[in-house]
Amino acid sequence: MVSFDSLCYSLLLLSGLVEVLANPLQSRKHEPRPLVIWHGMGDSYGSPGMLEFINEIKEMHPGIFVHSIYLDEDLKEDQRAGFLGNVNLQLGNVTEQLRDIPELSQGFDAIGFSQGGQFLRAYVERYNSPPINNLITFGSQHMGVSDFPLCRRWDLVCQFARRAARGNVYTEWAQENLVQAQYYRDPTQLPQYLSSNHFLTDINNELDESVNQTYAENLISLNKLILVLFSEDKTVVPKETSWFGSYAPPEDDDDYEKTIIPMRLQTLYTEDRIGLKTLDERGDVVLETCEGEHMQLSTGCWRPLVNTYVGGPIKSQMMLVQDQVVLNGF
Ligand SMILES: *[C@@H]1O[C@H](CO)[C@@H](O)[C@H](O)[C@H]1NC(C)=O
Ligand SMILES: *[C@@H]1O[C@H](CO)[C@@H](O)[C@H](O)[C@H]1NC(C)=O
Repeated sequence: MVSFDSLCYSLLLLSGLVEVLANPLQSRKHEPRPLVIWHGMGDSYGSPGMLEFINEIKEMHPGIFVHSIYLDEDLKEDQRAGFLGNVNLQLGNVTEQLRDIPELSQGFDAIGFSQGGQFLRAYVERYNSPPINNLITFGSQHMGVSDFPLCRRWDLVCQFARRAARGNVYTEWAQENLVQAQYYRDPTQLPQYLSSNHFLTDINNELDESVNQTYAENLISLNKLILVLFSEDKTVVPKETSWFGSYAPPEDDDDYEKTIIPMRLQTLYTEDRIGLKTLDERGDVVLETCEGEHMQLSTGCWRPLVNTYVGGPIKSQMMLVQDQVVLNGF
């Protein structure tokens, strides 16, 4: 599938080149910026849903190059890597994958579904080469999750598993091997989270002694960061994490009233530890809501976003167009 796509793209590029030679300004102007997508938990890079989504985007933006990120070319293994693995190592692999794709070399827009959203943000902060222009995250867990989905009342197995996971989530084994544990941020166990977690604490620059300034510099190099929250999301707890919200830690254990700390009151924001405040004050953090449960992606919700933030002209081509204008004026 991938090689077929790249063959098609090569042909497209070739025919584009012929046109460019005939008329440099006109045909280049219309070549859309490429797009990279990172699928969510339980999905794979080539599932029917993903392929359909990609096809619809190709219809919206004719000629667009789309790459779907994978950790394994085998669909089942790729799906498995969404549950089992070390996220920091996975990110390194994905970075190599993106660097090896010539079509992406001038930068791209990116869409992250659910956990793929915070992974793409981590890519921006740590690597961003080639650079992301606009990043859209749908239902992502930017401030982690603080609970596993609720069990039905009499589902004792579910309740047992949930309790066990909650008790063991900060062990070294879980933090190295369970993907979801690497963004599990329990407000009732913040000290354990801060000392054992090596992914979310890092990309959110939460550890006072190891704040990495490069992360902020890279994040503010984004053109736009579009954060989409699902209004009825019951899978992600709390749903406000998609907008950098999290539950406040309890003040006393007996009567834990859960309140949300919104993005603009988070320490990582007020101290501008990852550049989010700078980006927001520049007007480039876009908070959007989609109606519905987690990842219920209605056309009415995603199409306007993809229309606005995906497939614009490639930057160097814009510069080329400007050069051309200057040359003409000269
Ligand atoms: C990263 O890639 C290497 C070699 O391509 C592979 O052996 C390894 O399992 C990959 N790691 C992850 C976390 O997917
Ligand atoms: C900070 O992040 C950059 C980019 O990932 C990395 O190259 C650098 O080594 C990091 N600095 C420290 C002190 O970890």
